Amino acid sequence: MLPFIGNVHLLKSKYELVKQLSELTYNLKNEPLWRLWLGTKPIFVFHKGEYTEVLFSSSKNPQKSVQYDFLHPWLGTGLLTSYGEKWANRRRLITPTFHFEILNDFLHVMNEQTDILIQILIKLVKEGQEINIFERLKACALDIICESAMGQNVNAQHDKTSEYVQAVARISELVTFRLYNPLQWSDFIYRITPKGKDFKRCLKVLHNFTKKIIVERDNDLEDGDLFSQKRVAFLDLLLKAKRKDQLITFDDIREEVDTFMFEGHDTTAAAASWACQLIDSHPEVQEKLHSEIDSVLGNSERHLTNDDLKQLKYLDLVIKETLRLFPSVPYFGRTISEDCQIGEYKILQGETAVILAYMIHRDEKYYPDPEKFDPDRFLPENIKDRHPYAYIPFSAGRRNCIGQRFALMEEKVIIANILRRFKIKSIKTIDELEPVGDLIIHPNDGLPIQLKFRF
Ligand code: HEM
Repeated sequence: MLPFIGNVHLLKSKYELVKQLSELTYNLKNEPLWRLWLGTKPIFVFHKGEYTEVLFSSSKNPQKSVQYDFLHPWLGTGLLTSYGEKWANRRRLITPTFHFEILNDFLHVMNEQTDILIQILIKLVKEGQEINIFERLKACALDIICESAMGQNVNAQHDKTSEYVQAVARISELVTFRLYNPLQWSDFIYRITPKGKDFKRCLKVLHNFTKKIIVERDNDLEDGDLFSQKRVAFLDLLLKAKRKDQLITFDDIREEVDTFMFEGHDTTAAAASWACQLIDSHPEVQEKLHSEIDSVLGNSERHLTNDDLKQLKYLDLVIKETLRLFPSVPYFGRTISEDCQIGEYKILQGETAVILAYMIHRDEKYYPDPEKFDPDRFLPENIKDRHPYAYIPFSAGRRNCIGQRFALMEEKVIIANILRRFKIKSIKTIDELEPVGDLIIHPNDGLPIQLKFRF
């Protein structure tokens, strides 16, 4: 360990981070957790589900770590970044908007945007082109979340030049860059760097866009019962709540809409892309999925219903196993709110904990031969004795992902629609794809695949 720097310098670039964290954790597999030093400040890395109880199972420790502060200029202190009473009030307010009846409304959006995706894929296949499925799915997921969250079609799948679409992509990149570059951590310095200036420009585009939509939707609501005229968006539900509870302001609503935009597209797109890769590298899985999808949907072109989704049980296992190997959010952080003791480690109030879902999902105790892709691990008989925190792609406890049902629905609709028409053929191996551990875990340089018509 070096004075001032600690041992954080041992961590290599984000390109090697995933590999390196795996090596470190396998080497320290008998330890309940391990400690990294950022200067003189310890960061406690939790890599085994059973020791995360202290973080998930009580109302303590709900506060995110300081690294989330880089998101504040964009997301303010919305659901993802807030804590305490503010978070509890917001969560109470927003939870009903994820009620399954409301989610059914969003199923239409998912089906319609996936139709557009499929038309694009058909065209590319006919032209004999290789397909970067990650890019395609990111655009599709962005269209789905824009329409669901704001009732606004940004047409990301067809229009790459949209200022808003470009700003969403760029700002996520900038936040990641800052996270990995301590020299840019100071707000004062960041503000005067070219990246800091670009961040400010993106912020203006994003906030202006959401503010404009909020005002327009609010005026629509003023003019009549929006619920009988248009398809409902999350935003409408928040505007309606605002009418009942004057404590919520337009800025509060903007924070939440921006949070959905941030949390709700790259995450789903990355998971569905990894699924495509894994499905191809396991021909028996692809075959099983084809026959399940054919038996549920026949050779019709119709939109998927909720009943169809329920019947796609094997697809469900495949998605779960994909999220085990590639949890879209590979790690997340907390600030400890009360001193605690774990094994020989004493963790003090105010110190930082990192929960490493990527490694928790590779604990040999629960997942023998952990690198093997085996959807049957999620059969009911195989999960019944598993520790509740051994599988946490959507985090756990009170701060779990509010959008998880939405995300799983979306993934099913997208993957079922692709497999209904195509056979997937991947071009690179997982190693060649170089998984990068950014804010989300994604292939370094896209995920190229080939698709072949099945019929
Ligand atoms: C496969 C897709 C997704 C994955 C793997 C995922 C994962 C996660 C994880 C791990 C967290 C906890 C983060 C932390 O503690 O810092 C989280 C929180 C959250 N997610 Fe997701 N997410 C997904 C999709 C979505 C979608 C589609 C939405 C919105 C429609 C969404 C909205 C949120 C929100 C608002 C939070 C903060 C919840 C709170 O703290 O109360 N997520 N998600």
